[in-house]
Amino acid sequence: MISQKIVKILKNPKHMGKIESPDGVGKVTLGEPHCEDEVWFYIKVKDDKIVDAKFEAFACAPALVTSNIAAELALGKTIGEAKKLSKMDVSSYLGGIPQIERKCADLGTDALKAAINDYLKRGQ
Ligand code: FES
Repeated sequence: MISQKIVKILKNPKHMGKIESPDGVGKVTLGEPHCEDEVWFYIKVKDDKIVDAKFEAFACAPALVTSNIAAELALGKTIGEAKKLSKMDVSSYLGGIPQIERKCADLGTDALKAAINDYLKRGQ
């Protein structure tokens, strides 16, 4: 059964989009032959805090929903705090994710982590 939270996000994924001149960009895929979907994640960082987070999901609904939640949870966090965001945090926000959708749903936090890693690499 689809929760009202999921329906609300699917109707209006408010963090979907692209940031011009992002400080970090991440791209992830499921890495399986049957799926060529991609999730892109963009972050803007100021004074070590994520001040903007957006994503583009050329992917299924679970990937889109969890990417939106990852962006929501990352906003306002320091890079260190955002790095600690877990798939369980996203799952808890939703009240659980069915096992069958687990891999797709993990793409949201994976994409956020990829964008953070890109940000950190740029700083070196
Ligand atoms: S089926 Fe490809 S990401 Fe879900």
